Amino acid sequence: MTEAVLVIIDPATKQPQGASPGDRLRLADPAEPQIRVTDLGITRGDGIFETFGVFDGEIQAMQPHLARLARSARMLDLPELDLEVIEEGVRLAVREHESVPQLSVKLVVTRGIEGIEDPTAWALAFVGEDYSGRQHNGLKVVTLDRGYRHDVAQTSPWLLQGAKTLSYALNKAVIREAKRRGADEVIFISSDGYVLEGPNSTVIMRVDQSFVTPRTDQGILEGTTQHALFGIVESLGYRSEYRYVMKDELDRADGVWLVSSGQQLSPVVELDGRPLVRDIELDQALLKRLMARTD
Ligand SMILES: Cc1ncc(COP(=O)(O)O)c(C=O)c1O
Repeated sequence: MTEAVLVIIDPATKQPQGASPGDRLRLADPAEPQIRVTDLGITRGDGIFETFGVFDGEIQAMQPHLARLARSARMLDLPELDLEVIEEGVRLAVREHESVPQLSVKLVVTRGIEGIEDPTAWALAFVGEDYSGRQHNGLKVVTLDRGYRHDVAQTSPWLLQGAKTLSYALNKAVIREAKRRGADEVIFISSDGYVLEGPNSTVIMRVDQSFVTPRTDQGILEGTTQHALFGIVESLGYRSEYRYVMKDELDRADGVWLVSSGQQLSPVVELDGRPLVRDIELDQALLKRLMARTD
């Protein structure tokens, strides 16, 4: 097993004069304790994160991930983050890791220690889960009610829907619920019937010559993988659309996928117990293009 690499980052923009980015990054042993038990990231899940995919040493979608991190930070009223030093922290973790075909970097920023509230941050480069099974065999997915209307981000922004927060206990719980129902994954539906996202992924469907993803004003994340995929499908001559999608449209789609930085792209082969159509050649072509991208 290859060793993970940990970089501790001092991420806040406000720094003493003369501090250079190098002073604010420190390699540390991931096998040793590094975080205080009173860190609000641990005691309250009060923080944010990003997971970067790294293929053959190339970090994918650096700027879109940093932009989303900054958006999440603003939604949580965290101090302004120094994205340059954070980017350098992610790059350092990758540089220090043994060269492997596929790596993930998890970047975490918490509100910091209770009573002090100077953000804690780190980047951990590690060899993640093997997604080849789901990429090639596909996923059985169940739809679950998220319990919020599709316009929750506008009506109740304090619920932080659409921020990538550390509070992912729910996102883990729904996978256990899917397993209890004999499935692998989940697609959330709003309480008023709109398709939203997976607990760790963006939903894509194909309708004839168009690739469609749910609009992100519904309290869901703007996916970096989805964005890259739309560039790829457009170059292949398909159209792409962000719009509202009702559950019954998903049932009738010409293809459904879950996409994210780790798994890249996995076809959905069964939805709520019913088989879905699948084009294996297209799945493989899209996966190959996604994994080979270098931006
Ligand atoms: C809730 C949620 N939606 C969508 C995504 C997909 O985002 P990305 O493609 O940037 O990894 C993730 C990824 O972790 C996620 O947690």
